[in-house]
Amino acid sequence: MEVRHQVVVVGAGLAGLRAALAAGQAADVAVVSKLYPVRSHSVAAQGGINAAIDERDSLESHAYDTIKGSDYLADQDAVELMCEDAPRVVYEMEHWGTLFSRTPEGRIAQRSFGGQEFPRACYAADKTGRALFQTLFERSLKAGVRVYDEWVVLSLAVADGAVRGLVALDLKTGELHTVAARAVVMATGGLGLMYQRTTNPYSATGDGTAIAYRAGARLKDMEFVQFHPTSLVGTNVLITEGARGEGGILLNARGERFMERYAPRLKDVAPRDIISRAIETEINEGRGLPGGYVHLDIRPLGLDLIRHRLSEIYDFCRTFAGIDPSRELIPVQPAQHYMMGGISTDNEGATSLPGLFAAGEGACVSVHGSNRLGANSLLECLCFGRRAGQAAAAFAARAGEEAFPAAALEEQRERLAAIRKRRQGEHHGVVRRELRGVMTDKVGTFRTGEDLAAAAAELARLQERYRSVALMDTGAVFNADLAAYLELGNSLDLAQAVVACALERQESRGAHARRDFPQRDDQRWLKHLLCRYSLRGPVLEEAPVRITRFTPKERTY
Ligand code: FUM
Repeated sequence: MEVRHQVVVVGAGLAGLRAALAAGQAADVAVVSKLYPVRSHSVAAQGGINAAIDERDSLESHAYDTIKGSDYLADQDAVELMCEDAPRVVYEMEHWGTLFSRTPEGRIAQRSFGGQEFPRACYAADKTGRALFQTLFERSLKAGVRVYDEWVVLSLAVADGAVRGLVALDLKTGELHTVAARAVVMATGGLGLMYQRTTNPYSATGDGTAIAYRAGARLKDMEFVQFHPTSLVGTNVLITEGARGEGGILLNARGERFMERYAPRLKDVAPRDIISRAIETEINEGRGLPGGYVHLDIRPLGLDLIRHRLSEIYDFCRTFAGIDPSRELIPVQPAQHYMMGGISTDNEGATSLPGLFAAGEGACVSVHGSNRLGANSLLECLCFGRRAGQAAAAFAARAGEEAFPAAALEEQRERLAAIRKRRQGEHHGVVRRELRGVMTDKVGTFRTGEDLAAAAAELARLQERYRSVALMDTGAVFNADLAAYLELGNSLDLAQAVVACALERQESRGAHARRDFPQRDDQRWLKHLLCRYSLRGPVLEEAPVRITRFTPKERTY
């Protein structure tokens, strides 16, 4: 099938749907997604969305907390823009129908989140992502946004240095389709599946980010991977930071509230990078529980509060760990949660490739720098999703109607035929397991040059093995084996970018903690690393950090 739209958005999560709604105001738009929209990971976001809507709070304070949280690597004009937009975003979602939790006076309820000097996370119990997503999804249905779901995007079609659309595999039939477009918005979310322990779903393989990278777009800040301090031991399901925002505390095996030693002022609501490292340190120094974890204690909050404001956590603990968190301690450990880096964009979502825009976790504006504050991600999706959609529609209005480059389809046809023909070879599951092991062991919370160099060598070997993987299922209809193979290729390319940037950055900043370079070094490293794809591996470049009014200083909590 050949279809044509002025703008096509890849990904049907919060950023993608927001981009599609915005683009749809001025252009003919469609969404392509490998998942049915309600399965997007946005629905799993729990704790909240930040906005300075209380008269005692301020936009400046939100911006300052975000920039300090980023360890001064965020681009400050982008942060200021996002924080200024935040109240509008929250009220818009409320007016569109999102049911936020309320204070007794009937105002939108807000709770404390890590690294913030004011309780500014607006929430819908601990299902904030789902509440926001449901609103956007209903709105997109009302607006008649066309969604091609269960279509796996294989590549961008590029001609004369500009994007002309994409090639996708329809999982339901095995057919290849071309989607001609004047502008494409990538919004495919995170890449957590490359780690063994992650709060992300199996679908989080960074597909759009990898496809844009291979097509020539620059990636930015790829060394900064966020580890959430509290994932449930066993499944690594997220236990929201909101649990600590409501008053929960972390305890080591001796029953000590250890965060008092690492962040004397904010303690259990310090930023994530600091708490994850504190937990790892407690475990490494013998004060963790056997098997490597600590406890989260929310018992003092009481059953009533837990069931009203943390109902999903209550259910998760009972379902996945067989414990009642109103009476028992929750076993938690850090797990990969979020990617600060992604496709490098300007404040309108434009990338280095004409006609390509990006938004959400797969993009990097950069408003999170080296460490994202909790509850800024849903905000980023809605703020920059809208901007990217508007900019893509404006670009499409200026661009002419161009022919779709036939070679793009032929290339993908040959690629899939070659994979299907291969009869001998190991299964991609083996390669994926090893990738996840390498990333977890060598590219985690604490890093060293030696480990990162070993990871780079191991990833090069895994890439080699990937080239001779064989499928078990060579059929056409819903070939999940083929889809998983394609996803693994994306994970591998992005893992190489993460490791190359992490090895290059010889300092510790935010989520990137090098044991061999333990200090932040503004003299040498107050800059972004950009990453360009080449067949020989990632090529690195540098870009300045945009500073407006917040001078970098020591980060203490
Ligand atoms: O802990 C949480 O609820 C996660 C929120 C976020 O990643 O922003």
